[in-house]
Amino acid sequence: MVRPSGPLSGTVPVSGAKNSVLKVMAATTLARGTFTLRNVPAIADVTWMGDLLAEMGMVVTHDGDTVTIDSPDDLRPEAPYELVERMRASIVVLGPLLARFGRARVALPGGDDFGPRPIDMHVRALEALGAEFTTAHGYIEARADRLLGTRVLLDFPSVGATENTLMAAVLAKGTTVIDNAAREPEIADLAACLNRMGAQILGAGTSTITVEGVDELSPVEHAIVPDRIEAATYLAAVGVAGGEITVQGARPDHMSMLVQKLGEMGMRISPDPDGLWALRSQRLRSVDVSTLPYPGLATDYKPLLVVLLAFADGVGIVTENLFSGRFRYVDELVRMGADIRTEGHHAVVRGVERLSGAPVRAPDIRAGAALAVAALGADGETVIADADHIDRGYERFVEKLQALGADVERLD
Ligand code: EPU
Repeated sequence: MVRPSGPLSGTVPVSGAKNSVLKVMAATTLARGTFTLRNVPAIADVTWMGDLLAEMGMVVTHDGDTVTIDSPDDLRPEAPYELVERMRASIVVLGPLLARFGRARVALPGGDDFGPRPIDMHVRALEALGAEFTTAHGYIEARADRLLGTRVLLDFPSVGATENTLMAAVLAKGTTVIDNAAREPEIADLAACLNRMGAQILGAGTSTITVEGVDELSPVEHAIVPDRIEAATYLAAVGVAGGEITVQGARPDHMSMLVQKLGEMGMRISPDPDGLWALRSQRLRSVDVSTLPYPGLATDYKPLLVVLLAFADGVGIVTENLFSGRFRYVDELVRMGADIRTEGHHAVVRGVERLSGAPVRAPDIRAGAALAVAALGADGETVIADADHIDRGYERFVEKLQALGADVERLD
């Protein structure tokens, strides 16, 4: 439950990035031995990825923000439906399992609230490396004696397809060049971990990644990069409630486009030795927003930006270029009094001074967090149902907002 709050103040720490740790956990299937991952967020998706690894035969131990993963000589290279259905990111075990064991069987993820979520690019890239695929009974099975390096040109810089290709190419014979690769900081983090394991990857974080395959990788210790989407959530919270906060650990270099956009809206944000300092002292101005692959504005920031526009002075046009169905939370914001019209992949947001608290439902992780942020500027109480979606991607969400002075509590 969220009640409106006055200006926020204080310091909030950022946890490790969900979209990095899940992939680094998948990468631990590439080598036998004991991995130590640090700065791991305590979120449901990490628990589920741990369940998936355990199901394959690995031993996963959580101790604070450290996760230890023991990877035995042999694994069952299979991701069952119950786990993939719960967490779509499970698909990233396909590439590494195939590379190490010559086969992998993964349940096909269906569509979700964002619309259809195909994996055709993952499959085409792995086929280019020599894998053969069959599909039956809702599972996709890949086989290859030894993957062979080649040039892979992705149709679109898909995050998941880049990661699956990368984790397959590290053990392939010869050189793989991934062109039109996704450039997200989480991909650079995964590549840094793989390189420490003995892989030879150049160019991760740019659109051309070159991988020289090696015969074997070793376990390592790796600290996960901070979560830029979580950091953005606290910036948006101060954008709605006003005040002055420091987002400790945030990486300004990973968030340049967002910081620029929020600056155009009238927030003052600057790097400080601790992370990012942010101040919102007057009503924000509307801007137009268009989501793009990194370094463009992330689609995961969009619900937060829609919320900021819902309070801003003027009209902002928001264009979603990645996922067809990612506007579901708009209906909930409208129920809270926001003036938003959607048409196809556009939303026209006309700012109002205040919203009005209402019972709402969190449709997914990011939209759930954005509804909580919106509620900070809504008169009365907002009760968010299905708030466990938020726990999939945010560590101690309620406690961190409370520490900034927000009036938020978790209801049983
Ligand atoms: N696509 C295809 N075919 C494919 C793969 C992707 O058509 O084979 C399309 C998708 O349907 C989508 C676009 O390409 O329209 C981009 O998808 P991408 O593969 O880049 O996304 P993803 O890897 O499935 C990750 C994050 C998402 C984030 C997107 C975009 C993880 C676990 N998920 O998904 O994060 O929105 O990249 O940046 O890394 C979240 O954290 O809540 C979340 C949904």
